[in-house]
Amino acid sequence: MKKIRVSTPGKLMLFGEHSVVYNKPCIVAAVDQRFEVIVEKLEKQEIIVEAPGVGLKFYRRSLKELGGKRVPKGIRFVEAVVCQFFEKHGDGQGLRIETRNHFDSKYGFGSSAAVTVGLAKALHELFEIKISEKELFDFCYKVVLKVQGVGSGFDVAAALFGGVLYFVTGGKRILKLKVNKLPMVVGYTGIKADTPTLVRQVAELKRQHPKKINKIFKEITFIVDKAKKLLPQGKWKELGKLMNENQEWLHELGVSSVELDKMIEVSIEAGGEGAKLSGAGGGDNMIVLVDKREKESVAKAIEVAGGEVMKVKLGAEGVRIEQ
Ligand code: MEV
Repeated sequence: MKKIRVSTPGKLMLFGEHSVVYNKPCIVAAVDQRFEVIVEKLEKQEIIVEAPGVGLKFYRRSLKELGGKRVPKGIRFVEAVVCQFFEKHGDGQGLRIETRNHFDSKYGFGSSAAVTVGLAKALHELFEIKISEKELFDFCYKVVLKVQGVGSGFDVAAALFGGVLYFVTGGKRILKLKVNKLPMVVGYTGIKADTPTLVRQVAELKRQHPKKINKIFKEITFIVDKAKKLLPQGKWKELGKLMNENQEWLHELGVSSVELDKMIEVSIEAGGEGAKLSGAGGGDNMIVLVDKREKESVAKAIEVAGGEVMKVKLGAEGVRIEQ
């Protein structure tokens, strides 16, 4: 039986989290922490999923039961991709699906989007169905919205296109930026962020204080647009300042945390040009822009503050078929 193996990169938000949910731009980088999906057809009318990275050793469901309730958390995205694909293309055969993380999904590198894109790409390849990149984006974004209810789709774009992207909500604009180097250190707080809850928390704040929150989103949009120009020029000092400003606005939005604040503070004291949280906030990661000479001292300071320094290369290749 034909087997298709696909890999996708993880992501790190550089600028514009939260405001990107509201028709605004953000800048996201794909990271070399890759996710793998392997699919093959089965004679039997069932799907078998092995996803050890999310604690699911073995899962079996008949095709007739697909889309039902009580799907284990770790494979909601997998089952939603299969259901959506079979709405149009199924040929009655079953599937065996295996997912592998090259990074622990706790790190907030976007494993849900990565597996969604990987599986959607692999299924179209397995059934020999042509699909453009934009169509694949729309397919995957629909899945994410169905499962998660909220989200801009920036993580789907990163998994699909790779590199460093300027991205507007729902893929209204997806522009690859020419960025050669991104000298950053990434620190993990040890706390898993709950993205949907934080997005809803900001939505509630916006409902209560629309003027204030819209102003914050406007300021963040200025920052994103400036960063879009400065990133390809490698203007690290200016970019560092923009990161600090972006962090101040995120703090105002109430999505930072004691742990993030501490790690950000010490990384600046240790010589970082600028630092901010990356992602939904409340935990997950922070990023520091740092000159090579200060990298060691910044990494050390983050660890002393209780963070875990992640070895991450930014600007990784998007989804690809592996041989
Ligand atoms: C989460 O990593 C980033 C948010 O902007 C949500 C999203 O864009 O989907 C908070």
